[in-house]
Amino acid sequence: MKKKTVKHIREMKGREKIVMLTAYDASMAGLLDGCGIDILLVGDSLGMVVLGYESTVPVTMEEMLHHVAAVRRGSPNALVIADMPFGSFQVSPEQAVENGIRFMKEGGCDGVKVEGGGEVCATVRALVRAGVPVMGHLGVTPQTAGLLGGYGVQGRTPEVARGMLADAARLVEAGVFSLVLECIPEELARVITGRVAVPTLGIGAGIHCDGQVLVTNDLLGLFDRFTPHFVRKYLELAPMIREAVSGFRNDVRAGSFPGPEHSFSSDTDFSDLAGED
Ligand code: KIV
Repeated sequence: MKKKTVKHIREMKGREKIVMLTAYDASMAGLLDGCGIDILLVGDSLGMVVLGYESTVPVTMEEMLHHVAAVRRGSPNALVIADMPFGSFQVSPEQAVENGIRFMKEGGCDGVKVEGGGEVCATVRALVRAGVPVMGHLGVTPQTAGLLGGYGVQGRTPEVARGMLADAARLVEAGVFSLVLECIPEELARVITGRVAVPTLGIGAGIHCDGQVLVTNDLLGLFDRFTPHFVRKYLELAPMIREAVSGFRNDVRAGSFPGPEHSFSSDTDFSDLAGED
């Protein structure tokens, strides 16, 4: 397999669908990379999926860096993208460049993702000028879900849809190499995909995008308290894990684990030691 680059991803538009998944650790990244996944996103969904926060807002640069470096170590071929967490790029373009460079130097990733529309264009321009490839993110932007009024579908009215189309064009003009479209009507995603020169990656944005992204834990059914409408579960891991772990608990309690095949023997006679203090 060949290492994926930003150039490869750009060239896939209109030729081959792009496959992107989230990853947060080296072992899962290795499995996904081995399946030929094009892009691994170390999403700030890390906050909810792995770190137990209520939202993505508390996630810090240090937490993200720790996981980005792990994913990079496990993934030799995929394009690894680090999500810039809330507070790491909003203060100034200079702050964004400093943190984008940290992600590339310390985390070893291939680029970053920045949530937002027109308001982040100066930041995108500064990052790209500094040599940090940027993926944009429009539609539902979880870091600012409070401002949007939650995680509901965005762009259902003509005014909001027109604004999103304009934002997509401005982001491309600012230099993004691809664009995540999250939870928007399928037809709007089709229009945006047709109008921008960079690949669009949909999550809850229908079939017409240039590629699709899902949170890996959703696809594997690792989280079974809630399944978003746009997720197709390919596995139901949560009940399988419960069953396996309960089996281990029962075996330990019953004294049937470990068995002789899991234990070590020696030619030494240890029976004398039994009486020693
Ligand atoms: O943080 C994340 O996992 C994301 C994807 C849902 C696109 O931004």
